[in-house]
Amino acid sequence: MALWGGRFSEPTDDHLKALNDSIGFDKRLYKEDITGSIAYAHAIANAGIISPEECLAIVDGLKNVLAEFEAGTFDLKPGDEDIHTAVERRLTELVGSIGGKLHTGRSRNDQIATDFRLWVMSALKQIDTLLADLQVALVEKADQHTDTLMPGYTHLQPAQPIVAAHWLMSFFWMLTRDRERLSDAYRRVSISPLGSGPLAGIPFNVDREFLAAELGFVGLSQNSLDAVSDRDFVAELLFVIALTATHLSRLAEDVIIYSNPLFGYITLNDRYSTGSSIMPQKRNADPMELTRGKTGRLIGTLSGFLATLKGLPSTYNKDLQEDKEAAFDSFDTIMLLLPVVTAIVKTLQLNPEKMKLALGDDLLATDLAEYLVRKGMPFRSAHHVVGQAVQLANHTSVSLSELSLEALRGLSEMFEADVAAVFDFAASVARREAIGGTAPLAVRKQIAAARRWFELHPDVHHAQS
Ligand code: ARG
Repeated sequence: MALWGGRFSEPTDDHLKALNDSIGFDKRLYKEDITGSIAYAHAIANAGIISPEECLAIVDGLKNVLAEFEAGTFDLKPGDEDIHTAVERRLTELVGSIGGKLHTGRSRNDQIATDFRLWVMSALKQIDTLLADLQVALVEKADQHTDTLMPGYTHLQPAQPIVAAHWLMSFFWMLTRDRERLSDAYRRVSISPLGSGPLAGIPFNVDREFLAAELGFVGLSQNSLDAVSDRDFVAELLFVIALTATHLSRLAEDVIIYSNPLFGYITLNDRYSTGSSIMPQKRNADPMELTRGKTGRLIGTLSGFLATLKGLPSTYNKDLQEDKEAAFDSFDTIMLLLPVVTAIVKTLQLNPEKMKLALGDDLLATDLAEYLVRKGMPFRSAHHVVGQAVQLANHTSVSLSELSLEALRGLSEMFEADVAAVFDFAASVARREAIGGTAPLAVRKQIAAARRWFELHPDVHHAQS
């Protein structure tokens, strides 16, 4: 019999049960549910609703239920609609009818909001730990390649020379923002809704501040209607995951392109690439393709969940039960991706020779224009002159650096013998030494800044241990 069976004279239809029951997935919240219930038992004992002896028995019973879940011996019964009813049913079996006092003043509406916030808080910390690992891998790899020249791209067209460390570090900074978003979201998730009742608040003298503190929340909700129906915290989790995955997906795309033999800039480690069952030469970047592919699903889950929320009337509606599978799936997916992406970065082999081969003179066209600017020509004119030089080189099938001084002077008198010095890739990157530029010197400073940022943002788990 369901916990709400009093006013019904017929049992629930089996198909409806299959649709309605959430135990299949929300059993994952057993720890949060039981922790919340233990705190609640203390709170209603403090309020004089149950005696100290009853509280002791209930807390003891709850601890036994927890132990059963941990040992994998908890038996689900057909009437267990969700994690809350399953725990209460078992508690009552263990301690008798006083188990039924635990729900006094509490509703599954404030209960699930509490449980799920606790779960999301833990999820955010776990993601943060893995993101910190990936950041370390990026910095360590970058540190080895501050002088490794490679082509930089815009529009996927060769643009200007950069150093490989600069490319790698660009992802470090994306992850700093992801981690800041995580900890920012954490502050808003960490608000206790417990003591809001089904929607209107609690009629007993239960100390909500005590409850919040017991459960490790940083604050408590100020409006019971909002508290039971707010799922911003789930949407934020899904967003942070989707945006983080978007960054991983962009890294994945670069790795896929750069590991293509036409580029050859990087070689994936054997452990992190896959072969073809028919084409023996293949080394595919499947994990990177899966990263890119799963990101599509993560974005879809976010937008699907926002659609779930947008038309809900006040306050709790069963639609909100959809938050669990969305969050579990997105969390599991990002937790699956991150260790693989980190391992790929760690084991990635960069091929400086291949990168060098790809450095065509055209990448220095901007430098050539800047040469003219240093001689006093306005940049717009310099851009035009060099454009003509590029065209001339194309027409005469030579590279930009192979154009004779005479040919260049035909385009502008400002070209002099020292123009030969422009065609030096290392010198080109070295000039971009302003903060944030690709000069090895600037990139070494960037790496130092990254390490300082990292020290100020150790991942939550390490910070706590
Ligand atoms: N399984 C429900 C959920 O996930 C728990 C809350 C049920 N509340 C209710 N009034 N039926 O949202």
